[in-house]
Amino acid sequence: MEKLDRLTVSEGVRIFPGLIDAPAQKVLIGEVAALFVQSPLYRPVMPGSGTPFRVEQTCFGPLGWVSDRSGYRYQPYHPVTGQEWATIPPALLTLWNELTGYPAPPECCLVNFYRGDQAKMGLHQDRDEPALDAPVLSLSLGDSALFRLGGSTRKGPTRSFRLNSGDGLIFGGPARLSFHGIDRLYPDTSRLIDGGGRINLTLRRVTRP
Ligand code: SIN
Ligand code: FE2
Repeated sequence: MEKLDRLTVSEGVRIFPGLIDAPAQKVLIGEVAALFVQSPLYRPVMPGSGTPFRVEQTCFGPLGWVSDRSGYRYQPYHPVTGQEWATIPPALLTLWNELTGYPAPPECCLVNFYRGDQAKMGLHQDRDEPALDAPVLSLSLGDSALFRLGGSTRKGPTRSFRLNSGDGLIFGGPARLSFHGIDRLYPDTSRLIDGGGRINLTLRRVTRP
């Protein structure tokens, strides 16, 4: 399914261009769409202000990351339906094993769905996971996007690069708490998703094994 060519962007950050080939992307997007029945997309709001996110989200796995007026947290059930999250597709667990080598499976696959010209994600850290020794594995499907990566403080230089459908990205080790975000989408750069848009799948280990 995957080829393991990679670019090391900085210590702890690796990009795998074309990690998932076109046929496997089709299979994966079909599996993900089927899981939206049990774990439907919804639009979270920011802690405090209640401002809606620019993306829709859902999760798969035993723990899902959620945001609402009271804060960010992981929980075992969907905040809208109250149901357990759908199971993480096995192909993603295989990729996690091959790419991270982490001795325990991911507990959360966060799904970000970017659609429309307002879809983006501000610079943030992934820091709600006690298992900060595990890297974050991120996969891109659909339209290309401009990803911005900084250091471990909000201020300071950032670098931007384009993520295309099928690309993988890992950040871990000294880069685990790097600030990152999506500045913009490049519309109509992929036909993978009906109606256009981009799906990002972020795999994380939450608890220390
Ligand atoms: C995220 O950091 O949660 C999403 C990043 C991306 O969409 O590539
Ligand atoms: Fe993130």
